[in-house]
Amino acid sequence: MAITEEFKQELKSRTDIADVISSYVQLKRSGRNLMGLCPFHNERSPSFSVSRENGFFHCFGCGVGGDVITFIMKIENLDYVDAVKFLADRAGMTVPENDISDGMAKLRMRIYEANREAARFFHRQLYSPAGKQALDYLRGRGLTEKTIIHFGLGYSPRDRFELVNHLKSKGFTKYEMIQANLANQSDKGYAFDRFSDRVMFPIIDVKGKVIAFGGRLMSDGKPKYLNTSDTPVFNKSKNLFALKFAKNDPKRQLILVEGYMDVIALHQAGFENAVATLGTALTEDQAMIIKKYCDEVVICYDADEAGQKATQRAINILRPTGIKIRVLTVPNGKDPDEFIKSHGDQGSARFRMLLEKSGNDIEYRLMKLRGRYNLEIPEQKVDFATKAAYLIAGIENPVEQDVYISRIAKELEIEKTSLKRLVEKNNKYSSFENKKVQQRKAQTDLSAAADKLNPEKKFNLRAANAEEAIISIMLYEPDTAVEIAGTLSPETFVTNFNRHIYEVLRKRINEGKDVSITDISGDFTASEMGRLAAMMTSHPRDSTPSESARGYINILTEQKNKLTPAQAAAADNDTIMEQLRRMREKKK
Ligand code: UTP
Ligand code: MN
Repeated sequence: MAITEEFKQELKSRTDIADVISSYVQLKRSGRNLMGLCPFHNERSPSFSVSRENGFFHCFGCGVGGDVITFIMKIENLDYVDAVKFLADRAGMTVPENDISDGMAKLRMRIYEANREAARFFHRQLYSPAGKQALDYLRGRGLTEKTIIHFGLGYSPRDRFELVNHLKSKGFTKYEMIQANLANQSDKGYAFDRFSDRVMFPIIDVKGKVIAFGGRLMSDGKPKYLNTSDTPVFNKSKNLFALKFAKNDPKRQLILVEGYMDVIALHQAGFENAVATLGTALTEDQAMIIKKYCDEVVICYDADEAGQKATQRAINILRPTGIKIRVLTVPNGKDPDEFIKSHGDQGSARFRMLLEKSGNDIEYRLMKLRGRYNLEIPEQKVDFATKAAYLIAGIENPVEQDVYISRIAKELEIEKTSLKRLVEKNNKYSSFENKKVQQRKAQTDLSAAADKLNPEKKFNLRAANAEEAIISIMLYEPDTAVEIAGTLSPETFVTNFNRHIYEVLRKRINEGKDVSITDISGDFTASEMGRLAAMMTSHPRDSTPSESARGYINILTEQKNKLTPAQAAAADNDTIMEQLRRMREKKK
């Protein structure tokens, strides 16, 4: 393990899991634990629990769980070593450099450095004679000097070796350049620049690190934009362009647009809360990130058919997060950049007006729906009312529901009460359906039948439950853990998954290390940690751990000794009699 036990102990003593999780999830006290909405799946009622006392979290809904390091790994999308560093930073500690022997962590660090160097290089090129055309292009698109610098825009030279040579002179290896996707490898094996003769847009993460680039051709050609492919530091579906600036919006609102240039034009016009996806449709990961920083999203995609499809899709992805959604449609088929530019000095004020009158997504959907019916024809009117009622039923807030009911009733010249009744019918239906689906999902997630981690559990339910109780006691009670490790052989375990867990715990104990849940995340995968947290939740702390452990060990031994039908057929009478005797003894 790259990070020493002493360091982890110190980190543990300085880190409070509830404090850490509270900066991502709103937690409320519930009995001994804290509860909140799970940040790893969409839910409306809290099933995410945090035990400050015992240092672990667990979601009853989706099954994730673990200690504070597991939590940071998952929510910040970091590997183990980086998660420890993240928490160390927070606790004001520094991980001793020689503890980072993890090759991946080193490579990631080198890629960040190469990217930063490349961004500087591209930016300098913009002001060199070779970059004149690119600079003129950006100015021609209405960008000011300040904006060009603010976004660190640049130019990648036409010659395919300039960046590669520059990075080489700064000590970067060919391997590092290729891993950073700044260079490609030729058939003959040499490296050449990925970006050539393009205007460069650095993509910067929330911490200010350059993680990727987008490069635009200045003439017509394909592809118009070339982006960095996914690398060890960049995942295009987990980042948003300009989020670093946009995330601090005092109103906690984001404007979601399609393109880099739209973002930049909006920022220049004073809308610093604009962000864009990176050449893909909005993903669930991005929706989760957005939810971290804002309460309202204004979707502002192109007015063309593709843009409208993307809008519908984005609504579907954002809606379950509970973020308020509005849709802004730019008139005359323009994108936001073109719109602002076409109004000159008035651009910013005009866009603000659009923003203020942009409707929420229900309004948008009702408008789209209305367009499909001829309201002069009674049957179509009824059809529209029925579908509209269904949409309105999806609104959680009853006051908001009422606003739409009144409006639609008036528009269709029908009784408000009858429309209301229609909505209520759908209300009950949809919430009931939701509950059923959620319940079913929770059950299958936790039930033995669908257990992917421990597929043997369903055939050996009693044994597996005893195994899990034993493991949970070990995680809660250090003294009993030592006792158990001294008496229970891994051979006695029936299911391989639990045996593996036990072997790891036992090995730690034999090496004199602790095995509480906050000590062991380096030894287990994230899904194993989730299962361990689940075990702790379903077997809460016990007043007589040592006694209980003996009871469970007995059950396990008995189950292990139980003969399978095939074994029974082959066994001699004595064995069977012995087996029966033992079973009877147990019953007494
Ligand atoms: P647009 O063509 O709408 O982008 O594509 P834009 O920023 O408005 O471009 P111009 O400069 O004003 O013409 C939207 C986004 O789709 C991705 C880019 O992220 C772009 O910003 N895209 C587009 C690509 O990744 N590759 C392409 O070839 C085109
Ligand atoms: Mn554009």
